[in-house]
Amino acid sequence: MTKAQITSLAKEAKSLEPDSEERSLLLSKSLNYSNHFLQSLDAQKAYQKFDKTVNKLLDEPLTDAPSNVEKVISDIEHKIVPPGLNPASGAHFGYIPGGGLFSSAVGDYLTAITNRYAGVYFSSPGAVALETKLINWMAELIGYDGKAGGYLSSGGSMANLTAIVTARENAKIGSQDISRTVVYLTEQTHHCVDRALMIAGMKDCAKRYINLDDKSRMKSPELKKTIQKDKEKGLIPWMIVASAGTTDTGAIDALKEIGEISSEENLWYHVDAAYGGFFLLTEEGKQKLKGINLADSVVLDPHKGLFLPYGSGALVVKDVEKLAKAHRYDAHYMQDTKIDAGMYSPAELSPELSKHFRGLRMWMPLKLHGIKAFRSALQEKLLLTRYTWQKLDQMKDIEVGAEPDLTVFTFRWAPDGVADLDEMNKKLHKAIVNDGRVFLSTTRIENEFRFRFVVLSVRSHLKEIELFLTVLREIITKTEQNISELSN
Ligand SMILES: Cc1ncc(COP(=O)(O)O)c(C=O)c1O
Repeated sequence: MTKAQITSLAKEAKSLEPDSEERSLLLSKSLNYSNHFLQSLDAQKAYQKFDKTVNKLLDEPLTDAPSNVEKVISDIEHKIVPPGLNPASGAHFGYIPGGGLFSSAVGDYLTAITNRYAGVYFSSPGAVALETKLINWMAELIGYDGKAGGYLSSGGSMANLTAIVTARENAKIGSQDISRTVVYLTEQTHHCVDRALMIAGMKDCAKRYINLDDKSRMKSPELKKTIQKDKEKGLIPWMIVASAGTTDTGAIDALKEIGEISSEENLWYHVDAAYGGFFLLTEEGKQKLKGINLADSVVLDPHKGLFLPYGSGALVVKDVEKLAKAHRYDAHYMQDTKIDAGMYSPAELSPELSKHFRGLRMWMPLKLHGIKAFRSALQEKLLLTRYTWQKLDQMKDIEVGAEPDLTVFTFRWAPDGVADLDEMNKKLHKAIVNDGRVFLSTTRIENEFRFRFVVLSVRSHLKEIELFLTVLREIITKTEQNISELSN
């Protein structure tokens, strides 16, 4: 290999490092598009219907030749972004919305530009200290003392998995013990917990689905009895998973009561607060989540309750040493990083090593807007949900689920004299999705097909709620007409 060859290759790769003029061009085109995207949100649908032709939209092969900026931005704008759900829309009332804060997007941009290595303190003490600060802030919110620690994950599923691995290691469960080990949860526990158990090698443990009360909360007296029965059978009660805001209905388990049972029985107590956790910022949420501090581990999702763009979850463990013990590692090539930092690095507390500098996308919004703005937005969502629930409750042909604890409730269309309500509601849902002005998702509660209504987008305000009420009534009327035309 000659020097001339090396120089020639560097020349061919030169476009990987744009100069300031080229950077400005790319940035200004991206900024134009992002401004247009945000300014036109009101006119955009919450759900854009699509067919399988979308799979062909990006059929052009990746080639040796570069594409120009306009073409690339245009593909993003016209081909990639529009089809399907629009999570940036304030009329997104399905699944668990969040919205995506602009300040967080800018944080991500700076993260990528500076490309700090956020896994280990030696490389980037600033990034690690920032992540630790955010974890400590969440630990305080939960009510933990100074022994707590955790890490910023990609989302709630990863954070739940890390918690379960920590609980497994803490209980020193050997492969021979798995089938005698018992986890306690409910049918309303998020499915990622089941999956995490499988990934963590615990798929053959016994799972006790504790019955729910009429507000979809774990029946704690039954939990206690079940644990005792299992002990009598010689089994190993291991972990309780409670929910602080279930996905289906937003129900909050009796966190304090369950925590007390857990400590009496000496079990690992895990609380999945991926959806509900940040309501701790509000007075109302604090009251409703009382007892969460009894948990050994808590999952929160900043990409839900703090409105960050997707890619932000968090695990906070009451005793950070337990998390560290479950994720210890050693490697010769990491020997330089073993310095006295006065804090753990995320790589010592999670499965990740080369880690996205996630702290900035969370810290920038908290600093730039202040906590009060988040508190007010969350309180606003609580009130909007109650307002909507009351409006629907007053409608003769709508049957609402239990009054919401937080910002989720279920409902279904139940006009008089209809035998197959499931079928009717499926039709109604399809019509709402096809219309696209608002988006709702559905579930099954006690084997009934029901709509879930969730307010958690930062962009959902009274205007979007009124839009939902209008669209719902309009589409119900149309669906009724269609059905009566079909039956005539
Ligand atoms: C209660 C609960 N736990 C866990 C998760 C999974 O989180 P993620 O989608 O961030 O992986 C969700 C997602 O909606 C959830 O609502």
